[in-house]
Amino acid sequence: MNLFDVYPINEITIVKAKGSYVWDDKGEQYLDLYGGHAVISIGHTHPHWVKSIEEQLEKIAFYSNSIKIPLQQLLAEKLGKISGKNDYQLFLCNSGAEANENALKLASFHNGRKKVIAFNKAFHGRTSLAVSATDNKNYIAPVNETENVIFLPFNDEDSLEECFKENARPPDGQGKGISSVIIEGIQGVGGINVAEESFLRKIRELCNENGAVYIADGIQCGYGRSGKFFSHDFAGVNADIYTMAKGMGNGFPVAGIIIAPHIKPKHFQLGTTFGGNHLACAAALAVLEVIEEEKLMGNAVMVGKYLKNELENIRELENVRGRGLMIGFDVPEELNDLRKNLLWNQKIFTGESKPNVIRLLPSLALKKRDAEDFIEALKEEIAAIKLKETVEG
Ligand SMILES: Cc1ncc(COP(=O)(O)O)c(C=O)c1O
Repeated sequence: MNLFDVYPINEITIVKAKGSYVWDDKGEQYLDLYGGHAVISIGHTHPHWVKSIEEQLEKIAFYSNSIKIPLQQLLAEKLGKISGKNDYQLFLCNSGAEANENALKLASFHNGRKKVIAFNKAFHGRTSLAVSATDNKNYIAPVNETENVIFLPFNDEDSLEECFKENARPPDGQGKGISSVIIEGIQGVGGINVAEESFLRKIRELCNENGAVYIADGIQCGYGRSGKFFSHDFAGVNADIYTMAKGMGNGFPVAGIIIAPHIKPKHFQLGTTFGGNHLACAAALAVLEVIEEEKLMGNAVMVGKYLKNELENIRELENVRGRGLMIGFDVPEELNDLRKNLLWNQKIFTGESKPNVIRLLPSLALKKRDAEDFIEALKEEIAAIKLKETVEG
């Protein structure tokens, strides 16, 4: 049997990882500034994370959600403390798409409405409603096409107000009104676009006025990556539901949503077989313990600031943006090979956004020394490309 070929892949086989480094099957070492797509939060194979999973594995890995799983409560308490959302309620699932799917569904159960506002360049996942709220027609199968999702320009307060005016209180009943607004605090796949604080506050205000649910997609920009637990927190207002995945398990598949207290649970509206299993909870708890113990959000701010400053001083790069250790910059056409060359010549993994954005999504434990090495390597590769162009005329 062959694998179903869904992505173009690099011809590299990674067999070992530690901290911000990975090694291939030939023993070659790579600096990982991609974090396996923003997943590695506390560093690859962190000893505390490994030990917690191993110890849990010896006890019990899984039992269904029909019994008490005290680890879930421990995780909820720790998450409440670190995120500052103590009074929220936690629902656990397995992936980012599933988290958003549940959030959108819960919002609709809550207010009985159908319409979702999402934004241009948004990515919310591959499941049915999450993909319908994703701004890429190539990902949406005919069966997922719906009139229930309205796309608006990102950071455009006027069009948001207009849309609420048109849809919030339709004359023919509640069903067509706006159920929820879903937004990434910093768009990831869309190319590291930071939501303006005033825009997030406007969403909060309009949701309050119209009984809609504000859903903060924190799957890529959350879990401390921006320097705050949720990047949406920079706006100083709370969302009704936050979704999380990626960094939550540091590579162990675990995801969740946290739900404001005014949204009440009803039995059987949401459910899951694997979500919140013992092993996933052990991994997620270990991640939070390390984030707290090693002050990784502070590290993300410090190393992120260094990287951004240095990148801004490289005059060939344009539009350096982002927060903490979620950074993007535009690469001009003449440096098209830059990301490829960083990988093959310098052995550094970075992320990308088509057509020309390099994304940095390293572990939150990235050391300044590693960031310095990256800047050095980047300058070297830029100079090499320019030299080649000069020689070739
Ligand atoms: C902002 C955002 N939301 C949702 C998802 C989907 O997460 P998953 O791939 O775990 O389903 C992603 C994945 O890249 C993402 O970046």
